[in-house]
Amino acid sequence: MTPHRLDLEWLGFTSGAHLLVDRALRGLPVGAALHVVGADPALGVHLRGWCRARGHGFQEHPDGGYTVQRGRADLQRWVGSERAGGPGPDGLVHRPPAHWGLAARGALVELGGPAAPSFDVDDRDVVWADLAPRLYANAASAQWDPATAVDWSVAFELPAEIEAAVVQVMTYLVENEQAALVIPARLLARVHPHFREVLQLLAVQAADEARHMEVFTRRALLRGGEMGTSSVGGRASLTTLLAEPDFSLASFLLSVLGEGSFLALLGFLDRHAPDPVTRQVTRLARIDEARHVAFGVAHLERQATVDPTLHGKLRGAVERRHDALADTAGLNADVFDALIVLAAGEWTPAAIARGHRAVTELQHAMDDGRRRRLSRLGFPPDEAAELSALHTRNLM
Ligand SMILES: [Fe+2]
Ligand SMILES: [Fe+2]
Repeated sequence: MTPHRLDLEWLGFTSGAHLLVDRALRGLPVGAALHVVGADPALGVHLRGWCRARGHGFQEHPDGGYTVQRGRADLQRWVGSERAGGPGPDGLVHRPPAHWGLAARGALVELGGPAAPSFDVDDRDVVWADLAPRLYANAASAQWDPATAVDWSVAFELPAEIEAAVVQVMTYLVENEQAALVIPARLLARVHPHFREVLQLLAVQAADEARHMEVFTRRALLRGGEMGTSSVGGRASLTTLLAEPDFSLASFLLSVLGEGSFLALLGFLDRHAPDPVTRQVTRLARIDEARHVAFGVAHLERQATVDPTLHGKLRGAVERRHDALADTAGLNADVFDALIVLAAGEWTPAAIARGHRAVTELQHAMDDGRRRRLSRLGFPPDEAAELSALHTRNLM
């Protein structure tokens, strides 16, 4: 056998010599000897320490330099290691173990190490939707800049009471957007990082809501007035969403029923906006919301195919929330009136009647949307209608 020799020349262990020694040893069988020579005066001291730490033998070489005898510790380190699934969505496992923790999907995971107890949403059937990678890519490319996407300086004049109605609606929207930010943000911290695309999607969703909070606040304050009112009933309704600990049920109540209804509301505001800024901010938010609803529907649609008890659980969640809110007023009356005034646009009996009609149509449109989405999740029409009717009067 030809002797294996490595000349480090001037390179010492303080400058990375271990990389060359390690690389030379990696190609050798266990027990083989490597003759290491070099000009660094500290080479012997450093190489001896390094070999001890790595489980390789070390002795002085009779011809100068040192002999390193390859040990097996570096090979044993990876005994029992495993791949954390595959890197692509086709490499997902059904239930990633807690000890994979923050390991990248597809990485070779060294055995041992801390379990990550907080990732309790770890069932592919509960959290995954095949649509998630595409929705994330779409979300990432559709981010807009609140500073430039809205023409904040466009000139318009509104009667004071119409402006007040817009401010009241914006105040209500901000309140709902804040709930819509906090809920996915809390859920995403519980999703096992193995389901990377779902975390990414929820993170961008939270960023969407952050922008919605900003643009609605900015529109409310555009004319220098004060914010509108926040009712007990509205906040009580949102608090029931925050209290739902189950991933699927929280996402059902927020994204399918709540944000689903919000789509109709934002469409209404786009159509009836009395000024161009209100129109732009609601239109931008609506595009983002459609994505939030799409993920909620897609992942529950998938779950419904594998979990025969899902429909009972979803129904239970709607009924529990309805019962919890039975004694509250639901929608802030100021918001309801503001929607009528906003759609009326002026203070004549005919205009108010028109505004009232538009809000009634909005309520029907919301109900239609909820029933359609409930049907997609597999509820028969009568049950979908019943559940839609139990949805919170606060709309979200
Ligand atoms: Fe939003
Ligand atoms: Fe949303």
